[in-house]
Amino acid sequence: MTVLKKIRNLVLPLPVMLATCRAEKNDPGTDNIIPLAWVGIVEYEPPMVNVMIGSGKYSAVTIENRKEFGLCMATAGMMEKVDFCGYSHGDKVDKFKVTGFSKIQAEKIDAPLIKECPISLECAVRDILKPKNHMMFIAEVLATHIDSKFLKDGEEPDLENMDILCYANDQYWSMGRKLNNLFYSKY
Ligand SMILES: Cc1cc2nc3c(=O)[nH]c(=O)nc-3n(C[C@H](O)[C@H](O)[C@H](O)COP(=O)(O)O)c2cc1C
Repeated sequence: MTVLKKIRNLVLPLPVMLATCRAEKNDPGTDNIIPLAWVGIVEYEPPMVNVMIGSGKYSAVTIENRKEFGLCMATAGMMEKVDFCGYSHGDKVDKFKVTGFSKIQAEKIDAPLIKECPISLECAVRDILKPKNHMMFIAEVLATHIDSKFLKDGEEPDLENMDILCYANDQYWSMGRKLNNLFYSKY
């Protein structure tokens, strides 16, 4: 046995989410996209999520100022655009323009959502923690959207067809196949 050096990359796999934000109120010219893998669920009711963003990043500053953001699920087919958004900076380039992602205006927040993403959440920041080099934005989910073509039996997300993009150990992965239902062994 030996040691694991990059613990941060080994809590895996993580779905890749695209956080969207608008730097200036009512100004779509200031919209931005940041790919995030450090995303988590915080609460059921009200539904809350958390995202970790490196302090000082353009998106962290924007979200700290505006207190709202979109969270849109990436698919494997978007990988190249996602990758670009993950090394470019919203204060230097218009990532919507370069990637060609289509915007839809959210219902409850002043930020765009990404039309091509199968699931999008509208989030309002309720708390910000600063553990060390990252900021943890804890946010309430005010609205959810799923493209109806990804609904199975009209109810649950059809993960097999969604082909979500995952991140693990500095690599992109697809999700793989379903093995069983939760608590299947109980009954
Ligand atoms: C798949 C992927 C996952 C990422 N996850 C995170 C993350 O969870 N937190 C973070 O701060 N940066 C993460 N990044 C890096 C940011 O996306 C990157 O620093 C980006 O260029 C910042 O954009 P901005 O300058 O427009 O804010 C990730 C990048 C990729 C490609």
